[in-house]
Amino acid sequence: MRLHHLTLVLIGLVFAIGLLGANAPAFAAPAAPAAVGTPAAATLPPGPKAPPSGAAMAQTCAGCHGTDGRLHAAAFMPLAGMPKAQLAQAMRDFRDGKRPSTLMGHVAQGFSNGEIDAMASYFAAVKPE
Ligand code: HEC
Repeated sequence: MRLHHLTLVLIGLVFAIGLLGANAPAFAAPAAPAAVGTPAAATLPPGPKAPPSGAAMAQTCAGCHGTDGRLHAAAFMPLAGMPKAQLAQAMRDFRDGKRPSTLMGHVAQGFSNGEIDAMASYFAAVKPE
């Protein structure tokens, strides 16, 4: 049972890192110097890229917390439907080392307050099953 849980968590971690890695270039930047004068360059959207949405960032949690945070596990409450302030506070506490954790301290490192709020809004709006 314990071994099974650990395995699940490790798979989740690998999955999450894979997702982060896969998304990183997409977040990073679009407008690489496209060949000037090609039709493609003309259709590129102008301006800076919008920040990642709460929904997009929430995908990085799915490996461990289930799709849309709907997994009910012994180690944690489902994220789906968790009140926004509660989830945001938990993430800040994990990130800032105020709440002990095995994994979430590492996971939370990568997120700004604005990103945490966006994710918290997203999960708060998900209907728990
Ligand atoms: C690698 C697996 C993993 C990933 C990825 C992950 N979590 Fe967690 N999460 C955990 C574990 C394990 C716990 C229990 C605390 C601990 O030991 O870290 C937890 C606990 C939590 C809690 C506390 C729930 C409660 O019971 O109060 C919140 C909130 C949370 N995670 C949010 C997130 C969010 C948001 C993301 C995506 C950015 C995320 N987690 C990604 C494994 C993960």
